[in-house]
Amino acid sequence: MPAAERTVQISGSTVIVRPTAEAASQVAADAIAEIIHAAVNERGKAVLGLATGATPEVVYAKLVAKHEAGGLSFQKVVTYNLDEYYPIQPLDPRSYRAYMHRLLFSRVDLPANQAHLLDGTVPEAFAPEHAAQFDRWIEADGGLDLQLLGIGRNGHIGFNEPSDASVADFAAAPTRLVELHPVTKGDAVREFGAHENVISHALTMGVKSILSARAVVMLATGPRKAAIVAQALRGPVASTVPASLLQTIAERVVWILDEPAAAELGA
Ligand code: GLP
Repeated sequence: MPAAERTVQISGSTVIVRPTAEAASQVAADAIAEIIHAAVNERGKAVLGLATGATPEVVYAKLVAKHEAGGLSFQKVVTYNLDEYYPIQPLDPRSYRAYMHRLLFSRVDLPANQAHLLDGTVPEAFAPEHAAQFDRWIEADGGLDLQLLGIGRNGHIGFNEPSDASVADFAAAPTRLVELHPVTKGDAVREFGAHENVISHALTMGVKSILSARAVVMLATGPRKAAIVAQALRGPVASTVPASLLQTIAERVVWILDEPAAAELGA
């Protein structure tokens, strides 16, 4: 039986394992706070890529707690969220904009015009233009100091779903409108109540912007993620497992796992 609390190197990345999701979320929140402090000290601002889904909820609660305790300001933070359903109204409680407002933006001192999400109401004909603009905003901000990621059960990052593109083409994928993969739609029934209610498309930050981040924190918890975590970390780099492309920037990636998510790593 591996030790409950450990840090190992796998395929060039640091992998931190904690016994529980709570403890793993604490490690992630501490890492994010540290990156905010360092970037603000060095460059006067911190540019964060943020994730949604069930996994990071506790991380946001911990960041709010740090803010409330007086140890963390978001005044000089700029955020870009990974993705948003399409089409969706911003006030729809299932929108990622509503999620972020609920869990983080309304609870910290982040200026409203420094928190950016893809817009689920943009006319479809202008979606490519809107997506390209999002990438330009990130670039104009000097790129991401940190990208926080979760992983889908099919290996997706953001809503970059498994693809048959070459690794080179997939690594260059820009922010764009995509159709969700059947596994993702199945998992989204949790949020949408019934299969027929699941929104089938999304705007997602491209793999290119994700891989350009100066640091990536990948958080995965629970036994449902164990198989895909092992595949992404130990398997070949392949567009069919989008998270495996993180191996191409391995030295900039920290995987933070709870014990159940680490169960198939054999480390
Ligand atoms: C969602 C999001 C991803 C997220 C992933 C895992 O649908 N688009 O950004 O990382 O799927 O979600 P969860 O944390 O709920 O398992």
